[in-house]
Amino acid sequence: MENNATYQLDRERIPQHVAIVMDGNGRWAKLRGKPRLFGHNAGMEALKEIVKRSDVLGVKYLTVYAFSTENWKRPIEEVSGIFKLLIVYMERELDELHANNVKVNIFGDYSKLPKASIDALETALNKTKNNTGLVFNIALNYGGRDEIMRSVRRLAADVRDGKLDPEELTEDMLGAGLYTGGMVDPEVIIRTSGELRLSNFLLWQSAYSEFVFTDVLWPDFTPEEYERCIAEFQGRKRRYGGV
Ligand code: IPE
Ligand code: IPE
Ligand code: MG
Repeated sequence: MENNATYQLDRERIPQHVAIVMDGNGRWAKLRGKPRLFGHNAGMEALKEIVKRSDVLGVKYLTVYAFSTENWKRPIEEVSGIFKLLIVYMERELDELHANNVKVNIFGDYSKLPKASIDALETALNKTKNNTGLVFNIALNYGGRDEIMRSVRRLAADVRDGKLDPEELTEDMLGAGLYTGGMVDPEVIIRTSGELRLSNFLLWQSAYSEFVFTDVLWPDFTPEEYERCIAEFQGRKRRYGGV
């Protein structure tokens, strides 16, 4: 087992925005002969540690993919179990998040969640809204295409109302209408569990993100593995189309 000193992170080049596709909870549970929700529960524990380490490292924005617009296709017991776990997570973690000056945001239309989950989320949003530390974005009922469509629809309404000339539309205007409006794009997107795809995550914002894929299943993703992923990112040469 390697320890964190192995990775020699460059403290001057910690990404400002890290995004994570937390994948592999179901397989982790299956390996143990347990129901999928057992894996989601373990995934919650992993997340706790990653939020803490992000803060310690000086990451400014942490965006995690918790439930996609496509995840509604799963069995109802799993979907409602995930939303119940969300309440447990918020009730258990909120005081500490708040004490650490973390600001919670939700990306996605969470109005479609069960009432008790919405209440738990809104309690967290309200309590942490003036915090100035780590910005912790939880993507819930989030889809990158859905997010872009929402921004486009608002701009289209401005065009219809004569407030905006289509020729004056800019990338910045579209970007400002996304959930990430006002935030930097993620420099790095990490995906666990060995899957090599985005699954509709941050489609617009990932134009120049570095991707780091790890075979580790999300419940096994430790702060040390997180730092290894950041070290891998720091080893990349980013050219943005230049030479
Ligand atoms: C990620 O783990 C969590 C969610 C998508 C909610 P999965 O549940 O997708 O786990 P696998 O991919 O089936 O192992
Ligand atoms: C992506 O994982 C969504 C989340 C981690 C919340 P999935 O497990 O849903 O993605 P696919 O189905 O493998 O593409
Ligand atoms: Mg999965």
